[in-house]
Amino acid sequence: MKAEERTFVAIKPDGVKRGIIGKIVQRFEDKGFKIVGMKLLQVTQDMAAKHYEEHKEKFFYNRLIYYITSAPIVAMVVQGYNAVESVRHIVGATNPLKADVGTIRADFAQLMEYNVVHASDSLPSAEREINIYFKPEEIYDNWQSMSELIAYDEERYNQQGL
Ligand code: CMP
Repeated sequence: MKAEERTFVAIKPDGVKRGIIGKIVQRFEDKGFKIVGMKLLQVTQDMAAKHYEEHKEKFFYNRLIYYITSAPIVAMVVQGYNAVESVRHIVGATNPLKADVGTIRADFAQLMEYNVVHASDSLPSAEREINIYFKPEEIYDNWQSMSELIAYDEERYNQQGL
């Protein structure tokens, strides 16, 4: 079933430092997703703790917080059909060794600890994470992407019984 969703994506400090922001953003644009929020920002300790609260008891937690606050990230709100699951496909498995070839993590990362991108794992996580990094007025959805125009065509075809 097709459902329009928003998800949260971050290009993590290793992606920013390696100068591959453009290549990563390109993957989501190529898919036809609409980027409705995007900014470079320094993650604070407070934001990092909120973002990764589910990992608080994990052995890698302190390292994860150190890593995510070590340099700026690029935070994005990505919108489109089944965006949560579809973006996770494009990003690939957490461990780059297990990620399918053609995914961002398989193509750009070697280690799980430095896996270049983060993407929300569910719709509730997406909503929670978007709220950590974006104010409502920082999300711009008052324009039409080409993919949306194509989807509107589909609605018209439906109305015509095609
Ligand atoms: P991310 O998708 O941002 O969610 C949690 C992050 O913890 C994960 O990507 C990795 O960057 C990081 N991490 C570090 N070590 C591990 C590990 N052993 N298992 C899972 N995630 C890890």
